[in-house]
Amino acid sequence: MTMSPPTALATSLSARMADHARVVADKVVLVTGGTGSFGRAFLDVILQLGQPRKVIVLSRDEQKHYQLEREVADPRLRCFVGDIRDRDRLRTALRGVDIVVHAAAMKHVPICEYNPLEAVHTNVNGARNLAEAAIDNGVERVLALSTDKAVSPANLYGATKLCMEKLLIAANAYVGDRPPRFSAVRYGNVMGSAGSVIPLFQAQRARGRLTITDERMTRFWIRMPDAVALVLRGLGLMTGGEIFVPKLPTSDIVTLAEAVAPGVPREVVGIRPGEKLHETLLSAEEARRTRDLDELMVIWPEFRFHGGAAPVAGRPLPEGFVYASDVAQPRLDVDETRALLEPSPRAALHAVPEARVA
Ligand SMILES: NC(=O)c1ccc[n+]([C@@H]2O[C@H](COP(=O)([O-])OP(=O)(O)OC[C@H]3O[C@@H](n4cnc5c(N)ncnc54)[C@H](OP(=O)(O)O)[C@@H]3O)[C@@H](O)[C@H]2O)c1
Repeated sequence: MTMSPPTALATSLSARMADHARVVADKVVLVTGGTGSFGRAFLDVILQLGQPRKVIVLSRDEQKHYQLEREVADPRLRCFVGDIRDRDRLRTALRGVDIVVHAAAMKHVPICEYNPLEAVHTNVNGARNLAEAAIDNGVERVLALSTDKAVSPANLYGATKLCMEKLLIAANAYVGDRPPRFSAVRYGNVMGSAGSVIPLFQAQRARGRLTITDERMTRFWIRMPDAVALVLRGLGLMTGGEIFVPKLPTSDIVTLAEAVAPGVPREVVGIRPGEKLHETLLSAEEARRTRDLDELMVIWPEFRFHGGAAPVAGRPLPEGFVYASDVAQPRLDVDETRALLEPSPRAALHAVPEARVA
């Protein structure tokens, strides 16, 4: 049996962005993958609204760091070139850090399928290295970004993100009653993030022909500001072991294509290696230990890791609940999908009513 998800969508989280951003006030925050799509949006928000003491970005490509330093001229920003595969580098980078947001990953499904060991090195071994470095340095909180593709994974990307979730959640058991605490957020496709289908459709629109893999395909969608707000809220709520899941709208791929490129001819090219027709944010098994907190859902851990763990709070979900993109509500029409298309995370930040621009 499947049920509709509860109604309050993730947008209610970003409406309170300034409140949620207070969780980083006076903290030293390190963002792995801070030069990526999520990382850039997250940095903008916390530097403008969160009053962190210091923000460290760790990723590999020096060119992206160079760009970042030019664009974000903020004395609180530190750019560390480094690879999460490199334990020693992580150990050094995490010295004096209070909060880690773990966004670095390989994330392209076909590329992970074709280069499986590379995906394992980054997404799985990187998570292990991070957990060890966080424990060694007495970090307070580590929150990792996961994906709906980690639920009953059909591809290696999803499988590596499932391993990442499991490794980091289980890391709570290594530390007992001491910090760090490890938790995760899990969400669907971010509208307009690097390499997503929306920039692809936009480029194809200019060429006058869109490619669609399978017309039946559906996906959960999240706007970047809502993903940022979810992470901040998760940091505020986490006591160790939770996975925070937002309430998201869905649309099918034909509706999305029509929203991005109305009237442009489409060609069906077939599903790509490792792709699913529909994604699932919460499996039936997880739903049994998930609670609805109205603003989001929380998958509580299977183990009680330490004495400070929060008591399970929130309303239980109906028996048989599955949160999958083919059955979840609301399913957006073309106009609603178009309204959700956000050209830039920065534009959305400036739309936040309480925004204090430094
Ligand atoms: N985009 C989505 O639709 C979506 C949906 C659900 C969950 N997520 C998750 O959200 C996170 C962020 O996604 P995103 O869209 O921001 O990805 P992105 O734009 O591709 O950014 C990835 C970041 O990770 C860094 N990185 C990659 N490999 C690294 C390594 N070995 N060591 C250190 N840094 C590394 C990249 O920089 P360098 O290449 O310079 O190192 C970049 O800064 C990922 O964990 C992803 O799985 C994304």
